[in-house]
Amino acid sequence: MTKAQALHDLSSIYASRATGLYGLTLINQLAHAVQSGHHARAQGLPSSLVVAALLHDIGHMVHDLGEHPANFGMDDQHEEIGARWLKSYFGPNVTEPIRLHVPAKRYLCTVETDYFDKLSKDSVESLALQGGPMSEREVLNFQKAIHWQDAVALRRIDELAKDPKGPMPKFEEFSDDILSCILA
Ligand SMILES: [Fe+2]
Ligand SMILES: [Fe+2]
Repeated sequence: MTKAQALHDLSSIYASRATGLYGLTLINQLAHAVQSGHHARAQGLPSSLVVAALLHDIGHMVHDLGEHPANFGMDDQHEEIGARWLKSYFGPNVTEPIRLHVPAKRYLCTVETDYFDKLSKDSVESLALQGGPMSEREVLNFQKAIHWQDAVALRRIDELAKDPKGPMPKFEEFSDDILSCILA
């Protein structure tokens, strides 16, 4: 597969499958994705994290569990599905922050006393299904993961990127970042 083909595959998914809300209440998945990419770039983060931010919820789009599995009390494990799915395109500097973005939410709820209060409604609803705040032992294990700090940065961006009036760049504006990170 060429890099151009890989970019085309990813763009096609967002063009065709990112109109769903998947638990988000105010903006669709495409807007959430590009707004996440925007914030990563605005924070001066490297291309790998810009791409991770852009694609962090792709797991919601490549499973067949419907848009609101949480309504049925089901955690769709989109972070694991997405990271696994992206492994044929990217290295761990992109896939690991994605795989860990849900544990990063559980981590922040434990280590920052006011983090839970700042969560959006959809994040609160999914948190319980995802295991709730981490125990102290889970916190220590989480901090052993190589990309745990990148995952925390991504998780903060995730929560920022749900603003219907926020910036909405086009998906294509991230093509150079994606191409620079796709494995040869
Ligand atoms: Fe997510
Ligand atoms: Fe997200």
